[in-house]
Amino acid sequence: MDIRNKIKRIRRIKIISMGNTEVGKSCLIKRYCEKRFIGKYQPTIGIDYGLTKITLDDKEVRVNIFDMGGHPIFYEVRNEFYRDVHGAILTYDVSDRSSFQALNTWLEEMIRELGEQSAIENIVCVVCGNKCDKQRVVDEADGRLWSELHGFPYFETSALTGDGVADMFESLFRNILEMLEGNGRRVALRSTLGYTREQLEAVHKLRWATDEYDKLGLQPGATKDEINRAYRKLAVLLHPDKSVAPGSEEAFKTLVATRTSLLRYARS
Ligand code: GTP
Ligand code: MG
Repeated sequence: MDIRNKIKRIRRIKIISMGNTEVGKSCLIKRYCEKRFIGKYQPTIGIDYGLTKITLDDKEVRVNIFDMGGHPIFYEVRNEFYRDVHGAILTYDVSDRSSFQALNTWLEEMIRELGEQSAIENIVCVVCGNKCDKQRVVDEADGRLWSELHGFPYFETSALTGDGVADMFESLFRNILEMLEGNGRRVALRSTLGYTREQLEAVHKLRWATDEYDKLGLQPGATKDEINRAYRKLAVLLHPDKSVAPGSEEAFKTLVATRTSLLRYARS
């Protein structure tokens, strides 16, 4: 092959790993790059750097991996590494609810460091529900729901058994190359599953909003009329006969219960 052609074919990409401490970020990387698992916890101090070479569709890709220490004290160390990133692995531990709830904070950290919300359009993110070999406390549907809401592909992984790990990395690399060879923007994940973003958002709100008015998208003190109107709008979206969005059934039950509870105290 002509040397210039060869050079053109070599791509360099930069990826980062994000997520709470101990969710398994380093182990996922080790599983993929070294095909092994270490049971003893060795916290990442600040940041670890590694380089791996992969070949995708006869293209050689050099992957620079910046593995971040998830502990809050390393924020000052890791914040400078968000720049020029092509891909991010957002990991939580399916046996630890707080690590799942922290995904929002990680996303916010990245957006803050990138300087503007739209910069995230140039980064391919994947979400890993890791340690799926363990007793879970976060349902797969919740992980998928959060990821789909943000337009990111979702993978259930285990660094221990290796389940899902290669698929996750390959999807990340493929999407990055597709982005680099396209217009520089990541291809937004389009749901082909027969539900809409509006339905996903409604499920998400009913599941996570702590305030009952907020669940229905209402202000405190809403009237009976307003409650009923909000209820009808959401019921049309989420009725189990109409919605196949993950978590719809549960959300519909919450909707009915929330309406009943709010009507009890509302003014006409
Ligand atoms: P920080 O570097 O502190 O941010 O943590 P980390 O996210 O890099 O976690 P690390 O990969 O070091 O793993 C933390 C602990 O979880 C270790 O004891 C691992 O052995 C364990 N672990 C990681 N992945 C898995 C997994 O898929 N299944 C199980 N059962 N344990 C895992
Ligand atoms: Mg680590």
